Amino acid sequence: MISQKSILEIIETAKIEDIVGDFVALKKRGVNLIGLCPFHNEKSPSFNVNPTRNIFKCFGCGKGGDSVNFLMEHESLSYPDALRYIADKYKIEIEETKPSAEQQASMLEGESLFIINQYASKFYTDQLFQTDIGKSVGLSYFKQRGFREETIHKFNLGFSSAERDGFTRKAVKDGYNIELLRKVGLTTANDNDFFRNRVIFPIHSLSGKFAAFAGRILTSEASGPKYLNSPESEIYNKSKTLYGLFHAKQAIRKHDECMLVEGYTDVISLHQGGIENVVASSGTSLTVDQIRLIKRYTQNVLIIYDGDLAGIKAALRGIELIVEQDANVKIVLLPDRHDPDSFFKEKGHTQFLEFIQANKKDFLLFRLDLASREIAGDPIKKTAFIREIVQTLAKIPDSIKRSVYVKETALQLDIDERIIIGETNKLLVKSISEKKNNELPSSKSKEDDLLADDGTAIYPEQKPAPQNHLVQEKDLVRVLIKFGDKIFEEETSLTVANYIVNNIQDVLENFDSKLYHQIITESMSRLQSNEPLNPDYFLKHTNEDIRQEAIEVFTEPFTYSDNWKKPLQTQKLPDENFKNDSIRVVRMLKYRKFARVCSEMKNKLKEGQPGIEEETKFIKMNMKLQELKAEMGETLNIVVFD
Ligand code: UTP
Ligand code: MN
Repeated sequence: MISQKSILEIIETAKIEDIVGDFVALKKRGVNLIGLCPFHNEKSPSFNVNPTRNIFKCFGCGKGGDSVNFLMEHESLSYPDALRYIADKYKIEIEETKPSAEQQASMLEGESLFIINQYASKFYTDQLFQTDIGKSVGLSYFKQRGFREETIHKFNLGFSSAERDGFTRKAVKDGYNIELLRKVGLTTANDNDFFRNRVIFPIHSLSGKFAAFAGRILTSEASGPKYLNSPESEIYNKSKTLYGLFHAKQAIRKHDECMLVEGYTDVISLHQGGIENVVASSGTSLTVDQIRLIKRYTQNVLIIYDGDLAGIKAALRGIELIVEQDANVKIVLLPDRHDPDSFFKEKGHTQFLEFIQANKKDFLLFRLDLASREIAGDPIKKTAFIREIVQTLAKIPDSIKRSVYVKETALQLDIDERIIIGETNKLLVKSISEKKNNELPSSKSKEDDLLADDGTAIYPEQKPAPQNHLVQEKDLVRVLIKFGDKIFEEETSLTVANYIVNNIQDVLENFDSKLYHQIITESMSRLQSNEPLNPDYFLKHTNEDIRQEAIEVFTEPFTYSDNWKKPLQTQKLPDENFKNDSIRVVRMLKYRKFARVCSEMKNKLKEGQPGIEEETKFIKMNMKLQELKAEMGETLNIVVFD
């Protein structure tokens, strides 16, 4: 256990630009550094490193944090291992405190299980290569399947004989704990060997350790399932494992594509044939965790499945998950009765790749193709299918990509694009309102929800004006966090925070974001009790959402999130321009709020018989709005629409 003192020393010594710089090529941009984000695929850099604050933030995928967070995410390290990495880099001596007995036991167990599996793998390969039965049964089976010896070694393939407990007895004799042998699944509850009379395929962890095994039956007459898999254990979680990823990860990065097949033997065959960017989902349907694993290396997934109906169904089951994770999905179906292994053997390297190249289809077109055959001339089926495909469309996170697919769907199914848009939007509204629980339940209209996560309208060509004010609220909070402690007015020593908070009192109740509302009200009470309101306060805030907001503020490149950046580009950089910035964000937000309240009032007045009081209220509000409009028109050349 690393002592608290060492943890502090490590965190203080770590320089974010050094730590990140070891993995990402960074270029200087003002006081910050920028580079291509290692956590998602991108062509232009949105990954920012802020040395002053010692943090990083990607504006593409949203990841952000300090050096330790970076290492944990990028190198898949545990918290203590990330600290050790930094200590090692800066030659900091770590003060260790003794872990409790409990911690020790659980720490050792995971390690012990890996060690036992390592021992078992050695046992099975020895059986394969050094015993008569292993050679005559196991090795000849692999050879007859076309696996070369180097391939067998590379994937650590092995053999277990039909003996009842040959492995378990030897392991115990060699000092391995029977409890742990059972725990890792090599020994049954009756102390028999789990794998008997099977060829063995070890399943490697991401770092190449032996996490589990699969044993394939040798003859069709024998009883039991074709493949027997190690049970789940502390070191093996089936849904978080992809067979072959350890051997494939470099090639996946290199080709920027991951091929996904079904079986162990498919992976091995293709690998042997020089196609190394292949992993297998091992017969189960894909999980979100497996997709996240792939996405560490590439966004592009190519599913290669058997051409039978079961293969097609299996392929489709995984697709929505991949789409939701914002990956690019293509599919190839192999000719009937072929799997990648048999097809590769028949065609060879070149023809195999040519076939894939020629037949890979975008997932949506594939699905449309498949369906259009089935639904031809059947309006009921067609309706059902449209409902189904709309579900998938609504899950595409990228709004541009989504609208391209919407167009394509409308075209292929020969129905009005607006119907697809309407249906997709309904689902989006539902999922956004489920997701965005940080929004105040306000009187905003339904159309306000038609916004993508980044605040842009989903279908601007169809739905122009109505919007919520998340973008403007964010902008205001940005200025507050970044410049809150700067002096706004010298004579009175009024700070930017004072200015902002004082000036938005009358619209505070109309905030759309709960989070921003909270930031403002908290700031208000801090100012009242004379507590400091500086960047550090926000960056070290105990509320994770507020902290993330602050991290984003201090790593952001020079861009404005709203639509009115044009006149500003000719001005000074915002860092030197915080007074104008403060005025601008306050006015912009207030203008939006006033306008919305006014239009709501107007609608109400139209409907009912307004009392004199209500009418006066409306007139006053409208005057406020007109005043503000005039003020803004003078100082800022903005587009004002009602
Ligand atoms: P396949 O039956 O296609 O096996 O199942 P395969 O890998 O092509 O094996 P060969 O070529 O017939 O020898 C595909 C995958 O489904 C899982 C395995 O991961 C297998 O590789 N599976 C299949 C099981 O886990 N258990 C089974 O009983 C069958
Ligand atoms: Mn096969």
